[in-house]
Amino acid sequence: MRTLRTVTELRTAVRAARRQDPAGVIGLVPTMGALHDGHVQLIREARLACEHVVVSLFVNPAQFDAASDLAAYPRDEQSDAGQASEAGADFLFAPSLETVYPDGFATSVQLSGPLVETLEGAHRGAAHFHGVTTVVTKLFNMVQPDVAFFGRKDAQQVLVVSKLVEDLDLPIRIEAVDTVREPDGLARSSRNVRLSADDRPKALALRAGLLAAEAAFAAGERDAQNVHAVAVQAMTDLGVAPEYLALVHPRTLAPVTTIDGGTLVVVAAHVGGVRLIDNTTLGPDPSGRR
Ligand code: PAF
Repeated sequence: MRTLRTVTELRTAVRAARRQDPAGVIGLVPTMGALHDGHVQLIREARLACEHVVVSLFVNPAQFDAASDLAAYPRDEQSDAGQASEAGADFLFAPSLETVYPDGFATSVQLSGPLVETLEGAHRGAAHFHGVTTVVTKLFNMVQPDVAFFGRKDAQQVLVVSKLVEDLDLPIRIEAVDTVREPDGLARSSRNVRLSADDRPKALALRAGLLAAEAAFAAGERDAQNVHAVAVQAMTDLGVAPEYLALVHPRTLAPVTTIDGGTLVVVAAHVGGVRLIDNTTLGPDPSGRR
């Protein structure tokens, strides 16, 4: 695996790969580093589906709502490079802050509407997604991949990026990859390392809420309010109040009152000082996953 720092180095490498293998598919796995098994799974899927795999590593200040969260974000490029290489990446693109946002940078790529204004957008501010869509557009233009891989744990981000690609006619396929979990069910996240030993068991409250929703649905409950109530109860039983827990349409994120098709259950909560998110789907997934 080669590590590339500048757009010129990246373009030269990707161009050479395309010249050697004109039919070869270029896959991009965008990351902010602090790689864990969830990222490794994205890279492995990219390796299986693509001839050339680029992993980008850039902690994007524009998508952090709190300076303290940005400062606390774990960084370990050496470990990230080792994991990316082992999972099958050909190139690690690790640009500097100045490469991505040079002095005088003045452009923002922004979606509007419920996809960016509800749930994460309502609680973190829509600016979070504006930061994501701006950097993702830049990474797409820099790498010019055929396919890009994103984790389903960030379900709203997958919808936002898919809409960006659709609206701007970007010739890139978005692949969503299933959430990877710790053995006890906690969704893998770069933030998990910040959970204290005391808070770690409490972090299971998000999964407990989602499992309670799944169990209620499996038992025949179709009223979203009732499913919501049992899910919140399962969380509060573990001492965690959700920042939000919502049953929404899996494409539009519109609130659902009766679960009669696939329904996305999304949850966010602060455990100790760490903000975690997770989700599950009740009923048939519109992506045909189950
Ligand atoms: O999911 C992430 O890690 C980030 O939001 C992304 C897509 C790499 C953009 O900075």
